[in-house]
Amino acid sequence: MQPFAPFIPETAPFSPDQRAWLNGFLAGLYSRAPISATAPAGSPAAATLTPLTILFGSQTGTAEGLAKRAAKEAGKRGFAPTVLDMSQTDLPRLSGEKHLLVITSTYGEGEPPDNAKTLWTALGQAGGTPLGALQYSVCGLGDTNYVHFCQCAKDFDARLEKLGAKRVAERVDCDLEYEDKFTRWLDTSLSSFDKSGAAPAAQAAVHAVPAETKAEIPLESGYSRKNPYSALLVRSDKLNGDGSAKEVRHVVLALENSGLIYEAGDALGVTPQNCPELVSDILGLLGCDGEEAVPAPDGSTTSLRRALLASYDLGKPSPELISEVTSLAGGAGGVSVAVAFHHVIDVLLAHPETKLPPVQFVRGLKKLQPRLYSISSSPAAHAGEVHLTVGTVRYDLNGRGRKGVCSTFLSDRVVAGESRVGIFVHRNTAFRPPSDGEKPMIMVGPGTGIAPFRAFLHDRRARGARGKNWLFFGDQRAATDFLYREELEQLRSEGLLTRLDTAFSRDQTEKIYVQHRMEQNAAELFAWLEAGAHFYVCGDASRMAKDVDAALHRVVQLAGGKTAEQAADYVAQLKAAKRYARDVY
Ligand SMILES: Cc1cc2nc3c(=O)[nH]c(=O)nc-3n(C[C@H](O)[C@H](O)[C@H](O)COP(=O)(O)OP(=O)(O)OC[C@H]3O[C@@H](n4cnc5c(N)ncnc54)[C@H](O)[C@@H]3O)c2cc1C
Ligand SMILES: Cc1cc2nc3c(=O)[nH]c(=O)nc-3n(C[C@H](O)[C@H](O)[C@H](O)COP(=O)(O)O)c2cc1C
Repeated sequence: MQPFAPFIPETAPFSPDQRAWLNGFLAGLYSRAPISATAPAGSPAAATLTPLTILFGSQTGTAEGLAKRAAKEAGKRGFAPTVLDMSQTDLPRLSGEKHLLVITSTYGEGEPPDNAKTLWTALGQAGGTPLGALQYSVCGLGDTNYVHFCQCAKDFDARLEKLGAKRVAERVDCDLEYEDKFTRWLDTSLSSFDKSGAAPAAQAAVHAVPAETKAEIPLESGYSRKNPYSALLVRSDKLNGDGSAKEVRHVVLALENSGLIYEAGDALGVTPQNCPELVSDILGLLGCDGEEAVPAPDGSTTSLRRALLASYDLGKPSPELISEVTSLAGGAGGVSVAVAFHHVIDVLLAHPETKLPPVQFVRGLKKLQPRLYSISSSPAAHAGEVHLTVGTVRYDLNGRGRKGVCSTFLSDRVVAGESRVGIFVHRNTAFRPPSDGEKPMIMVGPGTGIAPFRAFLHDRRARGARGKNWLFFGDQRAATDFLYREELEQLRSEGLLTRLDTAFSRDQTEKIYVQHRMEQNAAELFAWLEAGAHFYVCGDASRMAKDVDAALHRVVQLAGGKTAEQAADYVAQLKAAKRYARDVY
């Protein structure tokens, strides 16, 4: 019996264009059968489709979203694309491929995102030229504020070449503003593949797209990073008690008729504005009154004050700005000086005599970027609203009080019931409560890391999911920093929260953190894992997530009676089975 290609019915919630593309895409996937009958009008004849694998390495979904966009474009240009999570392929499978696009972000200090780690290790261990038949190109996603900019993409690019693969188009390394570079890279890469000699998709072995990829074709609300929805701020309540060293807020925004859809585990993008006092200080240092006309990042003309408030990043200065100011001041310009300057204002303070003309000044600035926040509500429990748990960033440096742009925007510069805040949903399909409501889940979320787990718990309660739930929460002091205490205790008394283990580091002389609580409960934690529990971590990436990972290995070793290597294998299998997911920042 011949397999048949499924097709998207006209009643499905897609535009005609989306439906046409999806039908072509599915036809490509199921292309062992003759498919010209199901290929949409105007699409390339199915028999000539060239198989193309699009691999993504992604922590918070950006690269995954771009991989799906690349598939859409490739589908229109004669390819039968397969979008694959890096954790779902390996060297033997790659060595059977002919055409490959890699889109990956970078995390930690130049490390691969979690889903790329196993493949990266496998490629590193391989020798010879097993990828001799492969043509490829790599697109990196990163952030120039990090020292190891797009390191993971650079590493994959070099490694694929070393293993014999042929680079058909130069790698691009995209900063947070990836749109133009990504589009150009995709166009060049798709045009550069040599399709001759490739078995058409009709005869090629085509891997299945993971189920969640097929399920995640976004329903358009029309709102996005480029076109945020202006949401009414309903509440911004401080969660810490008086005397706390921390300031964390519960922020509620109204979705009204926006059509914005999210799921527990997604993040919300927030477009902030800079602090007006900081802008005034900068205007003073430039000798400007703020009314000077300057270009906005989108090319339109605006006033200097408006541009500095809403459009440009006044954080880490670019090497170009430092060069401009220092050379105008007659000093030695250059990137090496950059490390000394924390914020844009520090460059101006170092050379108060230089009055860079406004247009030149803004040309040295980067665009102000939205910040992401893990959503702390579930749409099943909080219809029409989206909740965040935001830690306010304030510190002193070189005699100046510094304010985190977005966190202080949300705590100091917006008014509940009046202000509107630009938002968009940033999907994080790799971070979801278990689809099987019977499965246990273990959540480690100290500090603001509690955010998605509040969402997970509300989601499970609203859906009547009966799986057991275990939360590890920690912060400085129980009296002032036990975020959502009443709510969590209520969930505990209802029985929804099976276990709640807390670690308050400053309530006793020795420091106790969540990872210590995990190890103290090693036997039970391992028993939960053996019973199929999903393990989640959210919060600080620099120390907590690493310490929790090490503790997880020790738990498996001690309670599971395993060697260090066996424990590493066990944890790797949890990741491969998508039962170990992290949302760390
Ligand atoms: C997927 C994801 C989910 C997130 N979820 C949450 C969440 O749920 N809750 C939450 O609060 N945040 C969350 N964040 C972090 C959030 O996006 C912002 O990074 C955070 O709010 C700070 O942004 P800001 O604009 O206030 O600060 P910025 O203006 O961006 O300043 C922060 C920067 O200031 C510097 N800095 C901070 N403290 C010091 C210091 N003491 N000394 C010197 N330099 C310092 C560091 O370079 C730091 O990167 C998440 C991030 C990601 C990527
Ligand atoms: C905790 C953290 C660490 C990061 N480390 C780096 C880094 O070392 N180098 C880099 O270029 N980008 C770094 N980034 C930026 C991400 O790579 C970038 O935001 C990317 O667009 C995310 O893509 P993703 O959503 O597909 O994971 C980091 C981001 C976070 C939140």
